[in-house]
Amino acid sequence: MSHADDQGGTRRDFLYYATGGTAAVATGAAVWPLVHQMNPSADVKALSSIRVDVSGVEVGSQITALWLGKPVFIRRRTAEEIERARAENNASDMIDVLARNDNRDPALSADDQNRAMDEAGEWLVMMGVCTHLGCVPLGDGAGDYGGWYCPCHGSHYDTSGRIRKGPAPENLPVPVAEFVDETTIKLG
Ligand code: FES
Repeated sequence: MSHADDQGGTRRDFLYYATGGTAAVATGAAVWPLVHQMNPSADVKALSSIRVDVSGVEVGSQITALWLGKPVFIRRRTAEEIERARAENNASDMIDVLARNDNRDPALSADDQNRAMDEAGEWLVMMGVCTHLGCVPLGDGAGDYGGWYCPCHGSHYDTSGRIRKGPAPENLPVPVAEFVDETTIKLG
């Protein structure tokens, strides 16, 4: 091998390692915020509040907001949806018996009254993340219980977002949310 070849080889090796090193750093930088976002601490949640205009949400429809990198379902329920959710409060196939509502006492039961935002139950705000492995469930009356259905492994949520059938272990969680005026919901 000539001296020139030897130098070329060394240079190629150097370029290879340098590129590899850059890739590793870039991957590390990309992964960290993702992992960090999956477990937002209480103070991060408090600092990250957003306001969502719900003036265009008709009865029987929902919008999806993005908060802390995750979808949040904001649904304006019909009288039938509310009635069904409340009639099934004590159903024997309820998988998770807790409200999972960050606005209330964590020990409260999964009764629809403990999950809905307002007393009448028209507004239901929940994280749009399946509690099984994190897919985004389909809404608008999907699934066997007329609420949401996660197609990844077949979890059925009712009109209150409670898990009723399938592998998901918990009800869709209700994040900190409040009306700050008649048409604006603040998340976080
Ligand atoms: Fe929803 Fe598995 S992620 S059922």
